[in-house]
Amino acid sequence: MVTVLLRADAEGIRRAAAVLRDGGLVAFPTETVYGLGARADDEGAVRRIYAAKGRPATNPSIVHVASVEDAERVGAMGAAARVLAAAFWPGPLTLVLDRRPGAVADAVTAGGSTVAVRVPDDAVALALLREVGLPLAAPSANRSTHVSPTRPEHVLRSLGGLVDVVLDGGPAARGIESTIVDPRGEDPLRLLRPGALPAAAIAIAAAPRTVVDPGHRLDAPWEVAIAPGSQARHYAPAAAVVVVDRAAVEAAVHQHQARQFRVGVVAAGSATGVPCALEIVLADDATGYASGIYAALHDLEAAGCQAIVVERVPDDGAWAAVRDRLRRASVPAPTP
Ligand code: TXA
Ligand code: MG
Repeated sequence: MVTVLLRADAEGIRRAAAVLRDGGLVAFPTETVYGLGARADDEGAVRRIYAAKGRPATNPSIVHVASVEDAERVGAMGAAARVLAAAFWPGPLTLVLDRRPGAVADAVTAGGSTVAVRVPDDAVALALLREVGLPLAAPSANRSTHVSPTRPEHVLRSLGGLVDVVLDGGPAARGIESTIVDPRGEDPLRLLRPGALPAAAIAIAAAPRTVVDPGHRLDAPWEVAIAPGSQARHYAPAAAVVVVDRAAVEAAVHQHQARQFRVGVVAAGSATGVPCALEIVLADDATGYASGIYAALHDLEAAGCQAIVVERVPDDGAWAAVRDRLRRASVPAPTP
């Protein structure tokens, strides 16, 4: 298959929409990361997503829609879901809803009775959804367990030749995935995945209901429940990732260089100046850092780094999603 890179102008969006309506695969920008989209009502098209990603069929996908009304047609929204949708859509919040029979293919939900839905806050994504006129199933547009793509070139490197179209909408603004909440039960609301929308913002909007963030964990509950035995290692580059305090960066770099590794460094706020193949300095605020961390991991991998030493980030709530992704990226690869 030849993958076509299309500029996300009116013509590109029209062509991408036609490919999607025909059951094809289109990687498109969202405000979080690039998604690998297919029409959600087409079993065969959704299966093609799983084949391209190498994703287990047991891991359900997020359905993207253009409006709250379209979300209502896919899943039943209770009072809490409506409050959160009104507060944060379009935006990086995914809601788990009771699935409406027949609205999406079984492959989208891995056969389950719930469906995860969001309205992305990205002009290209919304224009594409309106042009297609159908909900789109779209997990992140990377091979399973690899680092999510925040730029079209990341998608091409990971899935070139495996998807029909990559729609080039430039870099994704938020840089990490949406926050996933299950608002169906009684108090408290369950945070299933920390993400670009901070849990604190959700708690304010949901008050007086509270939000439980299971916090530090390797295996998120939905993965344990839906994909028993699945690896905690996610979002991981081919290189080994280690997270250490700034004071320990130099020693960690030396240790890996002593093993003849090409070593890269990711710092926050200012350069460490430790001699290495490539040092990338990200912002020292959580939002700015999140927008650059996946791109940094992609760039260091592309620069041939076999080890990446990441300076530890702060321990407060604003950084929860970034810490989660770094923790997952630094789980060692299974030894063959
Ligand atoms: O920001 C995002 O959420 C991006 C963009 C493309 O929208 N998408 C994304 O998709 O991160 P993916 O496939 O990489 O992660 C989707 C997560 C998976 O961990 C999956 O287990 C969970 O959503 N999920 C999907 N359906 C679910 C459901 N019905 N109940 C619980 N979790 C669900
Ligand atoms: Mg993903």
